[in-house]
Amino acid sequence: MLESENREKELKAAIKTENIPHHVAVIMDGNGRWAAEKGLPRYEGHRQGVEAVRLTVRNSSYLGIKVLTLFAFSTENWKRPVSEVNYLMSLPGKYLQSELPELIRNNVRVRLIGDSKKLPRRVQKAVNEGAEATKENTGMILNFALNYGSRSEIIMAVNRLVDDVKKGRNIGSVDEIIFSSYLYTADMPDPDLLIRTSGEKRISNFLLWQLAYSELWFTDVYWPDFSRLHLLEAIYEYQKRKRRYGSV
Ligand code: FPP
Repeated sequence: MLESENREKELKAAIKTENIPHHVAVIMDGNGRWAAEKGLPRYEGHRQGVEAVRLTVRNSSYLGIKVLTLFAFSTENWKRPVSEVNYLMSLPGKYLQSELPELIRNNVRVRLIGDSKKLPRRVQKAVNEGAEATKENTGMILNFALNYGSRSEIIMAVNRLVDDVKKGRNIGSVDEIIFSSYLYTADMPDPDLLIRTSGEKRISNFLLWQLAYSELWFTDVYWPDFSRLHLLEAIYEYQKRKRRYGSV
């Protein structure tokens, strides 16, 4: 038996099913370097990255994770060459077209977080159709963060709150619960676990408010190589952490 198969068995036996993180957020990094190391064009890294998305969605739903949030395109990613942006923009539609039947079978609900109005029409349409087709599903929520930036989300929330006050909504003094209700993640729990691949150790403007008490797990593995084994390693490590939320 392969060493990785052995490790996977060990992890499965060690992971406590009653302490699976409810919300896992992922910064899927390293597609470009994965491709470069193989002498391939960058888009091949993104293409293989979609395969890792397929597996991770399947494995997360199977493990009983309630919310999986994937950082697929940031508000800063528009700075990339047009051809790469166009390729990245083709991925949500392609993924949903091929995966929707399985997502429906697995009771997964698709959602989008981010400034969707600035996405190309076809991307909005594909994700909205995916969200509509799965809106009654009660299993895992699969959030695609597309044109997402946390600072712009916070500014958006402040502006919407100010608008509501101007319209006469009696908000009183704003507390964390009220403020959270204006974010894209309004009705979701904060992430318990953040995973970032590729060896980088940054948050990169992702869920700054929501990650306040999340456990962070970093791996050197490039996103296209991220497998069930790595997801299990992350969860195993998460379960070893003592979450104190500022207490002793
Ligand atoms: C970062 O790696 C990755 C991205 C900006 C894109 C992530 C997108 C996917 C993994 C596919 C998304 C799939 C769907 C279905 C929406 P990088 O390109 O910055 O890698 P590098 O740092 O090695 O150059």
